Amino acid sequence: MVNIAILGYGTVGSGVVEVLNINGSSVINKRAGEEINVKYILDLRDFPGTPIEHKIVHDFDVILNDDDIKIVVEVMGGVEPAYTFVKAALLKGKSVCTSNKELVAKHGAELLEIAKQNNINFLFEASVGGGIPIIRPLNQSLTADEIQEITGILNGTTNYILTKMGREGLDFDTVLKEAQAKGFAERNPDADVLGYDACRKIAILSSLAFGHQVDFEDIYTEGITKITDVDFKYAKQLDSSIKLFASSKKTGDSFYAMVAPVLVNSYHPLYSVNDVLNGIYIKGNVIGDVMFVGAGAGKLPTASAVVSDVVDAVKHLGRNIMTNWSSKKLELTHIDKSEKQYFVRISGNVSDRLKEVEEVFGEVKVVGVPGVTGEFGIVTKVMSEETYKAKAQSLDGILNMIRIEG
Ligand code: HSE
Repeated sequence: MVNIAILGYGTVGSGVVEVLNINGSSVINKRAGEEINVKYILDLRDFPGTPIEHKIVHDFDVILNDDDIKIVVEVMGGVEPAYTFVKAALLKGKSVCTSNKELVAKHGAELLEIAKQNNINFLFEASVGGGIPIIRPLNQSLTADEIQEITGILNGTTNYILTKMGREGLDFDTVLKEAQAKGFAERNPDADVLGYDACRKIAILSSLAFGHQVDFEDIYTEGITKITDVDFKYAKQLDSSIKLFASSKKTGDSFYAMVAPVLVNSYHPLYSVNDVLNGIYIKGNVIGDVMFVGAGAGKLPTASAVVSDVVDAVKHLGRNIMTNWSSKKLELTHIDKSEKQYFVRISGNVSDRLKEVEEVFGEVKVVGVPGVTGEFGIVTKVMSEETYKAKAQSLDGILNMIRIEG
């Protein structure tokens, strides 16, 4: 039997207990080769009258100082006190499985190094893509490839909002309020709608794929708050949708990373990833294209990924699973140097302004939407962000710009 402790009995923590109850004896213990027993649950609250009542502890030291505990599951979220607890557990020789993307993005390299030195494991499958297996495939399956691109829809809340705006022609605020009422979006949705959550997740995937620390602070991040129902009308004219992409690409010796809403045409592999689903597209230099799609959030999908880490930790007790993520920082090239096409909405009448617009951008494709007056859209040719910004500054009346992907 292997004893584990769970830090935090919130949505994911209670999900971990539920997953072990549902599938423990039927499949999980067999796959782990050992019975997995939850000995302690750390939480500020008591849960009188519930089956976990006697497992609750309020003092982390009880867990830290119990040599019976071989694996600690950290599902508290946030950097502190999670970092202090996880580091202490690893230094005591306990493996840690976490769903905490803030913790992994900020301290992943250091915690992996401590795990390596102690012949234990620091595992974080649930930190990106919820229930989708993506960390283990990157670390253990796609090992024959040089990864050239990772592009993901990594935030379920924003994907739900954008999907609904596109389908129902609603504006951002209306859909956000509805998503909050249904419990899909957090009461404070900033981390999701401003792109911070997706930014941490692409930082983790990029660090793993490229083997060096990608600091999330270095990633250009733009949320979805400026996307309107009118943008979606233009997108439809272009046989496209609008998605929040988190991507990192290797071009020659340069690495770019960005989180931003993009126009995606219907041929793109991520075009059909809708609602709260997440999707991750990976391009390797020998395997080519690979796609992962599934539930990117939610109690049981996230808990499923956490428990899969616990199984892996049990299977590798006393042996570190090699993970190539060094603390040496990967310098990202400024996105100003990256090249793409841009969709731009411009105020005024196309017949009055096209000559002026083409003097700035060169030849463009004009996009009109029946019923939308007083403005028109254009698609530019491929140019660097730097060039686009310089040109856009010299043109009055730009209402919105969305990058084009694919
Ligand atoms: N707020 C996140 C999302 C939860 O909407 O995807 C999963 O990390």
